[in-house]
Parts: sequence; structure tokens; C-alpha cells
Amino acid sequence: MTPVRIGMPAGTLRGDTTVPGDKSITHRALLLGALADGTTEVRGFSGGADVRATLEAVRVLGAPATCEGEVVRVEGAGLELGAGRDVDLDCANSGTTMRLGMGVVAGVDAACTLDGDASLRRRPMERVAEPLRAMGAAVETTAGRAPVRIRGGALRGLDYTLPVASAQLKSAVLLAGLRAHGRTQVREPLPSRDHTERMLGHFGVHLARDGGRMVLVGGQRLRAAAVPVPGDPSSAAFLLVAALLVPGSEVRVRGVGLNPTRIGALEILRRMGANVLVEGAHDEAGEPRGDLVARASRLRGTRISAEEVPAAIDELPLLAIAAVFAEGETRITGAGELRVKESDRLAALEQLGPLGAPLRVTADGLLVRGLGGVPLRGGRVEARGDHRIAMAFAVAGLRAERGVEIDDPECVAVSFPGFFSSLAGLGATVEGR
Ligand code: S3P
Repeated sequence: MTPVRIGMPAGTLRGDTTVPGDKSITHRALLLGALADGTTEVRGFSGGADVRATLEAVRVLGAPATCEGEVVRVEGAGLELGAGRDVDLDCANSGTTMRLGMGVVAGVDAACTLDGDASLRRRPMERVAEPLRAMGAAVETTAGRAPVRIRGGALRGLDYTLPVASAQLKSAVLLAGLRAHGRTQVREPLPSRDHTERMLGHFGVHLARDGGRMVLVGGQRLRAAAVPVPGDPSSAAFLLVAALLVPGSEVRVRGVGLNPTRIGALEILRRMGANVLVEGAHDEAGEPRGDLVARASRLRGTRISAEEVPAAIDELPLLAIAAVFAEGETRITGAGELRVKESDRLAALEQLGPLGAPLRVTADGLLVRGLGGVPLRGGRVEARGDHRIAMAFAVAGLRAERGVEIDDPECVAVSFPGFFSSLAGLGATVEGR
């Protein structure tokens, strides 16, 4: 693999751009489309590797799907999806494909094996297996991880309190609940992304919500729907923080998802002093969206604790980079979930030390002493096959004297295939592409 080096740009970053469609929303649109009656049209399909894994999974389960550019059409198989088909699902690097997929296949009488790449095989799956077993599915994990074997069948509804604020876990139980007999109730300790709940409503399912409690009655049929996918706020965040860090910059990202359960990082950045504006906010298909405009800003350190973690979970590595260039200290706590993402993201961030950032990684977070206006030294880092680690370090390279070289830049294709071109298009120095 050829490494890529991101260096300090000669000038400012400027531009008006878009980012690929939201990954979380796309996974759900494909799965609900497959479970619906009729043809669902998904617009804004990114072609990223994770959502391609889900697209392939719905086909294997018996919902034909075509893809033309950014438009995917899924011919739903209805609540009978997957019935009588013993299948193997390759979830590649995608935790969402595997965990939501487990919830989907638990509800039919068939055998299914779900597997993925080396990174996915290291991630915890027992947390999903446990409630699905309580609903009546036979689920076997491999020492708590993938490969996972499920023999689904007649499920009964469940009253379940999530042990962790995980949208993937919550969604797996709700999706199983769709095909269960009776009522499924889920309670969450802290609000996690609610795309599944919103999209079930969009597909005509009645789901009652009351604070952190959700209730649905099984057996409701889903009506196919059009799903216009907004830009992924987690991808937009990299370009916006890039603009915040390079003096004199201004970047607009159009049509980005603004679901409040996803934009915790925006609130945190504003508290750090970031100038980020929302313009033209409106709702489509139950999901808010709009433009985000970021202007270079002087940032100050902050505290991020457990309650703020779920709404900013995927942006925490990037927030750590922003903290490196802020004045004063930043402390992140209650973020132990970062250790079980596509890589151990806290361990991966320790690589900031040798680049010149004073930081200490703890069991469930980190402590950064901000450099203020001083640049990093820079150097080489390992992406560890993790798209968000690669992109976060690329942003750090914009303020590093020797730049930052990333060993495995291709891994960004999991969520943002054109990331390095987008960054270069805004004026960043990207060598080796
Ligand atoms: C996701 C939920 C989050 C997030 C992941 C996508 C989803 O994971 O980190 O990138 O689409 O539901 P958890 O639910 O495990 O926190």
C-alpha cells in the first residue's frame, strides 16, 4: 500500500462541497426496504464498503436490489425476508451490517452465519446475541465474537434495558421485534442515534417513544418508501475541523444530516470556541439536514464526559485532534466504547505522542494538553485499518511541520471513498495519492 502524506497547506482551505450519504441511515434504509412490501428507492448511496456489505446482504436474504450511481432500488420481500434460506452473510468491516443483520435474521426460520474481516472478528457480539436468545433465537458466537451462527424462528417480544448506549444493539432488538409475537420494549440509558426509530415511522410502523423507552408490536407490515439520504455528519466533521484548524479558512458542506443524536461533536466544538454555522435546515423523510459552514477559529480545551459520548462517539478521535491544537487541557472520560470500534481507537490515538502532542490515554478516555498555536512535529502513523483513525490523523497533518504520513490510506473507503481528493480540493497538501 502506498502511504499518503498530508502537510501544512501553503494557503487557506476554502470551498463549497458535499460528503457521501450517511452510513447509518443507508444501512437502515436497505434493511427496512428489504423487509417492506414494495420497492424502496434510496438516494444518496455512497458506495462505501460498509453500505455495500449491507446491500449484498439484503440480496443474499432474498430482496433483489439494483444500484445505479447514487440510487439503489430494493424490491422488498416483506416480513417473509429470508424465510427458508440458509445463508452466509459477509459483513466485511461493518459492525452495523453484522449487528442489525443479526436482528433481522433472528426472526425467520432459517440458519444464517454472519462473518467479517479480522477487525470485525475482534468486536463484541455477545451483547446482541443475549437479547436475541431471550426472544427465542438460537445464537452461537465464537467466544463472544464473529463468526456468529443464528437459527431464527418464532420470536416472542422482549422487555429489554440496554446495558450500553449502543444504537446498533437497540436497532438489532427493534428489528427482531418487528417479526416477534407481541410487544417489544427497549429502554436506553442515554440517547443513542435514533435513525431506526425515525425510519420505522417513515415505513409506516407504529413505534411509541417516551423518553428513553421505545415500544413496538410485532407483525406490523412495512410500506416501501423513498429515502433521500443526507450527507454523513461524521464524514463532514473531518472537513469542518480541517477548516477550523487552518488559519483564514472557510468551508461549507452542503446537505448534511443534522439529527440531534448525531451532532454532539458540533455542540462540543462550539463550546471549544469553533465558528460553525448551520444554514438552510429543513426536514426530509423524518431526518433534519442543512449546510454547515466552518471558519478557522481559536479553540480552547474542554471536558467531555459519559453523557456526551453517544452523540459524538464516531467524532471523538477527531475531537482529540482538535484538542491538540486548542489552548489548555481537554479531558475525555466515559468513552471506553472507543476500545471496541474498528480498532482500539484510544490505543491508536497514543500515536499522537510521538508526533509531538502531550497526551495521556486512560482506560476510558484521554487527557490532552493543547499546543495552542504551535504546530505538531509530525511523522508517520498507522491507520490500523480504521477509516476514522486515518482521517483524523490526516487532519492533524494540516498543522504538522513535517506533515503526517498515513500507512494505509485506502481504509477510508469504508465510509468516505473520496476523502483525500476532497481534502485536496479544499487546498490541502496531499502527497502520494
Ligand atoms: C452506529 C452506531 C454506533 C457507531 C457506528 C454506527 C449505527 O455504534 O459507532 O459507527 O449505525 O447504529 P454503537 O451502536 O455500537 O455505539
